[in-house]
Formats: sequence, structure tokens, C-alpha cells
Amino acid sequence: MSAMRTEDAADGKSTANGGGVVCQEGGVTVLRPTDLSEMLAAGTKEVHEKAENTEFVKDFLRGRIRKELFKLGHVALYFTYSAMEEEMERNKEHPDLAALYFPHELHRRDALARDLQYFYGEDWQDQISHSPATQRYVERIQQIGRDQPALLVAHAYTRYMGDLSGGQVLRKVAQRAMKLPPTGEGLNFYQFDGIHSAKAFKQLYRSRMNELELDSHTKQKIVEEAVLAFQFNMEIFGELEEVGKSLQDDVLDAAPVHGAHGEMQGDISQCPYYAAKMAASGGSSYICQMAMSMLKNPSGQVILAAWIAALAGLAAWYLM
Ligand code: HEM
Repeated sequence: MSAMRTEDAADGKSTANGGGVVCQEGGVTVLRPTDLSEMLAAGTKEVHEKAENTEFVKDFLRGRIRKELFKLGHVALYFTYSAMEEEMERNKEHPDLAALYFPHELHRRDALARDLQYFYGEDWQDQISHSPATQRYVERIQQIGRDQPALLVAHAYTRYMGDLSGGQVLRKVAQRAMKLPPTGEGLNFYQFDGIHSAKAFKQLYRSRMNELELDSHTKQKIVEEAVLAFQFNMEIFGELEEVGKSLQDDVLDAAPVHGAHGEMQGDISQCPYYAAKMAASGGSSYICQMAMSMLKNPSGQVILAAWIAALAGLAAWYLM
């Protein structure tokens, strides 16, 4: 958390409070974060939800992954990360970026190149090209790399923090759905060999972002750029959805996954985080669906009975 401070709000009335600024806006008191990491999390919340709800991402999480689309998604990522990492490399001594330069831990270009070689063969470079949305994303990254390097923070945040947040789940889903080797070929993108704990690294990255000496205007520009970065990603998802419509339905019925989520039956909906999220957003129908699927097998029946007994016990205790 950065020190508290006072900043001018839109209507000129603000006071310091903790890690944010208390502003009076139209008679309403609002607390605005001043730490860049919090500004980014708050400022991209809405667009993050939109990205989560794109058909391409939802299908991916359900394990409905067509290999052709996965490959094209990887091509888009390859061009995007190549541009981003090239600009980060060129600007690595820039004071607004230097603290976020983690080539060994984060850079994905080489991992993506290995994946593309696996999917397309030795001459993979001759077989790939920029899609229109990828081209626009890449051009934006190159432009800000030249003219406003501080805004690269937004692109690095959007991709790397996202990859570190969901990578392991996506890796398992992709491996199982496309029946890729468990040894990781084709999935190097999701493997951060230089990072022991994604959680700890994200904390470090957030504190590095907060320590950058940026004025409030630049921080605001970075948040706006991050929203744009999410939109570029969604445009690519949209393109992939369109390509998907013209492909034959080659979704694979997946075998159970063992590993990151233990003995789950290979279904992302059984990931505890995903279940909690769906229950929170999807309401009762999802809970009913889950209960029905539990009732279908004997161990599920025992677990469900135990839950009901525990809930009844809690209710009795509360009412006593
Ligand atoms: C259904 C799809 C998605 C789910 C379920 C999901 C879930 C999550 C979760 C649970 C976190 C919080 C992790 C933590 O605090 O440690 C997170 C963070 C993040 N995600 Fe996603 N995400 C999805 C899609 C995306 C996409 C498509 C992008 C961008 C292209 C993205 C970018 C980010 C970023 C930048 C963060 C870091 C937020 C912060 O801590 O400031 N996510 N995501």
C-alpha cells in the first residue's frame, strides 16, 4: 500500500484516507484507491467480467476446445507477446517500467514458439499470420512502446497477471480436452518455470507496480489502457468464435484429469473456485444441477447427506 495522500477530485474536494482518496462527487462520498494495483483491479473489474463471459472463454472453461481454434489462439498470443516483450526489452531501463522487467520469470514468447512448433511442425513460422484483431493489438503495443512506454504496464498487467491467475486450470482443461501429452508438449505457454508460487509472485508484481513513481494522471491513463488491452483480447476471442462457426464440431470428450485438482472427474465445473463462482453468479439452478449430479452416484449421496445433516445441525444450534 502506498502512503495516504490528498488529490484533487473532479469537483476539487478530496481528503486523504488510508490507501485511497475520499472524494465528494455530487453529494456522495466515494473512496478511490490510489495504489496502481488497486486502481487496475477496480478499473478493469467490469471489462474482466465481460471477458469471462465471452463464448470463447466460457467454451474453453467447459472443456469445449477445438484444436484448430486453440492453435489460432496460440498464434495470436505469439504475435502479441512477441510485440509486448520486444517493447519491454527496448524500454527495460525506462524508469516507469524497469521495476516490472522480469524476462526470466514471465516472458512467454519462447514458450509459445515451442508450442507452435509442436502444433504446426518445423516450418511453423511459414504457416502463421496475424489476424486483423491481432494486427490491431500488436500495432497498439508498438505505438505505445515508441510514444508512451509507461502504458506498457497496462498490457503487461492484463496478460501476465491474468496468465498467472488462471493458467494452471486452463492448462489442465486444454490438456484433457485435446488429449495432449501429460508431459506438457503444446502447453508450454501455461508453464512458468521461473515462478515457484504464482500467488507470491503476483503480490510482488503488485507491490512493484505500486512503487512506480507515477502521477495520478499517468496512473489513470494506465487503467484506461488496461481496459483497452482487455478489449483487444475480446476482439481476438470474437474472431475465434467466428472461425469456430465454420469448423466441424471436433470437440473431444475428455478423460478424467488427475493432478492440479486432485481426483476431480476432469470437469472444470468441479474446480472449487469455479463452483463457487457459478453458484454466486448463476444462482439456484447451478446448485440444483450440482445436487442432482451428486445424487447420481453413491459417494455423492453420502456427501450430500452429510452436508444436509451438518446444515440441519447448524440451524438447530443457531435456533437454540
Ligand atoms: C472465465 C474466465 C476467467 C476467469 C474465471 C478468471 C478468473 C480470475 C480470478 C479468480 C482472478 C483473481 C486471482 C487472484 O486475485 O489471485 C483473476 C485475475 C485476473 N484476470 Fe482473470 N479470469 C478469466 C479471464 C480473464 C481474461 C480473458 C483476462 C485477460 C485477457 C483476465 C485477466 C486477469 C487479470 C489481469 C487479473 C489480475 C487482477 C488483479 O489482481 O488485479 N482474466 N481472474
